[in-house]
Amino acid sequence: MILVTGGTGFIGSHTSVELLREGFEVLIADNLSNSYADVIDRIEEITGKRPFFERTDLSNSEETDLLFEKYPKIEAIIHFAASKAVGESVEKPLLYYKNNLNSLMNILENMKRHSVKNLVFSSSCTVYGEPDELPVHERSPIKIANSPYGNTKQISEEIIQDVAKVSSEINFISLRYFNPIGAHPSALIGELPLGIPNNLIPYITQTGYGLREALKVFGDDYNTPDGSAIRDYIDVVDLSRAHIISIKRLLNHKNKANFEIFNLGTGTGSSVFEVIRTFEKVCGQKINFKVVGRREGDIEKVWADTRYANEELGWKAEKTLGQSLKTAWDWENYYRKNLEKK
Ligand code: UD1
Repeated sequence: MILVTGGTGFIGSHTSVELLREGFEVLIADNLSNSYADVIDRIEEITGKRPFFERTDLSNSEETDLLFEKYPKIEAIIHFAASKAVGESVEKPLLYYKNNLNSLMNILENMKRHSVKNLVFSSSCTVYGEPDELPVHERSPIKIANSPYGNTKQISEEIIQDVAKVSSEINFISLRYFNPIGAHPSALIGELPLGIPNNLIPYITQTGYGLREALKVFGDDYNTPDGSAIRDYIDVVDLSRAHIISIKRLLNHKNKANFEIFNLGTGTGSSVFEVIRTFEKVCGQKINFKVVGRREGDIEKVWADTRYANEELGWKAEKTLGQSLKTAWDWENYYRKNLEKK
């Protein structure tokens, strides 16, 4: 049985689908603070299999202990559950430190107590900050975090590193995601931000759908070919596949050290204007936008050196930016027409 924390969220739900399709038994634990329980129904609709589900707050040690007591067959964990809004983390730092760090420590304690030997951790390219050299590889320097959210990812990796040193029986893989986008091709699950989206793609799809008046492009005076900032947008299904490979790597003892780190990106950067143009072309929907000032804390450009993940995991991003944007658009339409009113 694989425990997927945060399994009703964006990346967690897609990864649960891929796990079930591969024949794994899946237990989802989520406190539903930023997602809905009916995601479980749609995971079942896609796969024909229903994951186990527990509404658990993993930052609460009693609740976490109870979860592990109730499910003694957990073999491996994929730990997604975390708060992830950069701006909110600046406003409420303690909430972020408590939520993101306590949950990790509660899980690690229970792994030791119940002899669970494998953990895949959901990390972020945010740890590289504004990189000195591009593309960024796994040994590129870690920069001082520019938000409490980013700091929780750095500290989490340090906690894992320290535990790995003294617990050689436990194996860890940290996956550093670049910018996850897109949705399942069935359009039954996808990204579902509550309120006004912070991230680019949901803002674009909501603007396209007419829910937002215009996208604000945060800065066109960066040192990039068209002046807008550049990111490495990675499809969520491609990303999910990397988690399945990581889980199999751990379960089959193919890992080379008991703490490994991989970048998950496409290796290609796209500017904000390129994303808008590609969306308009592929989805046949114009996007109103206006250029405004830079967003505080944003970096200019980042994209991944994916060679290590390609060679070592045998994994490669397959979807193009256009394909991912189309699935995000299909999901936005499906959600608004079929699910929102329920
Ligand atoms: C952000 C976080 C990152 C986190 C990730 C999680 C920051 C600084 N970084 O990444 O740590 O892991 O989300 O999802 O917030 N943009 C616009 N208009 C918008 C929204 C975004 O122009 O309305 C631009 C941004 O300036 C950026 C690009 O689009 O250049 C992508 O932004 P976003 O989707 O928010 O992701 P990141 O900021 O890269």
